[in-house]
Amino acid sequence: MTGSHSIRLITQDDKEISFDCGADENLIDAAAKADITLPAVCHEGNCGACHGHCRSGDYVQESHSAGALSEQDEGHGGILMCRTHPRGDMVVEVTSDLSHITSGPVPEPVCEVLAVDDMGGQVRRLLLKVLPDESGVVHSEFEPGQFMELEVPGTDIRRAYSISNAPNWSGELEFMIRLQPHGKFSSWLIDGAKVGDRLNTKGPEGSFLLHQAGIAPRRFVAGGTGVAPMLSMLRQMAEFQETHESHLYFGLTTEADLFAIDEIEELKASVPNLTAEVCIWKPTADWQGFTGSPVDAFKRDLQADLAKGIKPDVYLCGPPGLIDAAEAAADELGLPYSSLFSERFLPG
Ligand code: FES
Repeated sequence: MTGSHSIRLITQDDKEISFDCGADENLIDAAAKADITLPAVCHEGNCGACHGHCRSGDYVQESHSAGALSEQDEGHGGILMCRTHPRGDMVVEVTSDLSHITSGPVPEPVCEVLAVDDMGGQVRRLLLKVLPDESGVVHSEFEPGQFMELEVPGTDIRRAYSISNAPNWSGELEFMIRLQPHGKFSSWLIDGAKVGDRLNTKGPEGSFLLHQAGIAPRRFVAGGTGVAPMLSMLRQMAEFQETHESHLYFGLTTEADLFAIDEIEELKASVPNLTAEVCIWKPTADWQGFTGSPVDAFKRDLQADLAKGIKPDVYLCGPPGLIDAAEAAADELGLPYSSLFSERFLPG
């Protein structure tokens, strides 16, 4: 049967929103028809941005990359809404608050390049300024943890990058971008990008946000440039002088990959209760810090936290392998899934 089914979304703040979806449609497209903008980037089952959790109902899920949705997650009802077709009425949990999914179309501001700097470790810092639209409005609001899609100038190729600065009135957006060999955006950054260039953008998007309810300690587990959205969160925590006991685990493969160390030192001095640890997976004999992955260090501390009755909110950002390993560690030690907030790296 090809009739339409009722989809009830339960948001992170426990609100509900409904729309209809035909059996031949996916949830993201059907939501868009009802003017509901859900987080989605690739629309092809590769990025994981449209992750949800089916509470009840039957559905068929098309093929997708294991990095975007692991088998374990799928076994627990995890779905990618861009690949999911209902076979009956469904109830789906999403990790966004209602205010993040009903705000109509995502803005597509034009931005100007203010700076391109080498941060070390093959990472470039790209600083943009949002320009006013034709009615003179500057669409520059975002929340720490969100990302923007940036278009390679002169093409229609877009890449998604997390914003690393704190929300500000001057319309500035900072990104930390690891150069990828032969990457389209990387090639532009290396060969073409200069101050004054303009580029089309889309966003902000995404629901990887600080969980503001309560005073639970916060743990941030980052791999490589997965630290960018966490810097945005921590910079806002510095501005608001938030006193949550917090620890950042920042993982890199070698010492040659080090970047953003000065920024992290500044945050340690300005966020009231922040400590941080750089974890090097394959260090030289000179390395004095933690040897291993950030998940190893996180697991060591989580065990001690849970033994003391402390249940931290855990923020994970990096490649799928890091997220899966951290989720498995939390599961093994008994931290509930609801304490985990994650953002997987997008391909490309
Ligand atoms: S939008 Fe669904 S996986 Fe990318």
